[in-house]
Amino acid sequence: LMAKFVGKSKLNAAVFISGRGSNLRSLINYSKKKLSPIKIVLVVSSNKEAQGLNYAKMNNIKNIVVIYKNIPKAEKKLLDTLVKYKIQLICLAGFMKILSKKFLLKFKGQILNIHPSLLPNYKGLHTHKRVIENKEKFTGCTVHLVNSCLDSGKIILQKKIKILRKDNENSLTKKVLKLEHQLYPKAIVKFLSNR
Ligand code: GRF
Repeated sequence: LMAKFVGKSKLNAAVFISGRGSNLRSLINYSKKKLSPIKIVLVVSSNKEAQGLNYAKMNNIKNIVVIYKNIPKAEKKLLDTLVKYKIQLICLAGFMKILSKKFLLKFKGQILNIHPSLLPNYKGLHTHKRVIENKEKFTGCTVHLVNSCLDSGKIILQKKIKILRKDNENSLTKKVLKLEHQLYPKAIVKFLSNR
């Protein structure tokens, strides 16, 4: 798969976060590899306290905080910045805001998200808690295209794991997060290869 990208220039990517930013960290590490098809040139946070902003700063990646008090105003700032940095791919990674239909249209087919469940099961928040409550045997994570319905766009790639009897919300969160860090780069490669 990777061979397809050798010699081609890397795509400009933006990562959108709201908090911890562990997926951002994994994407930054990945993007530094010679064979990575993307270059992260912008990090957007909806929260000025987001821990993840530190990874952007440590890596000298341009980062902005977009305050979502006034949504049209926030999206205008977002769009202007995305155009300025010639963004070709947007990776949502723990971004807790909803993008408007108008915004999505401007980046149609260019926005990916990672979700900590085996979609279409367990859309929305607190997935691990619900998975445990329902005594599921398996869980996992999904990278999908973003459309205007929450966690419902076309699935790019999933990874599944078995839930053990001793697992709880906390242990599942940790295990799935580790899987997420592996899945997101793989999903990006798959997505870009099939375009
Ligand atoms: C991840 O579990 C992701 O799947 C979900 O939000 C969490 C973000 O974690 N959408 P992090 O900020 O990447 O550490």
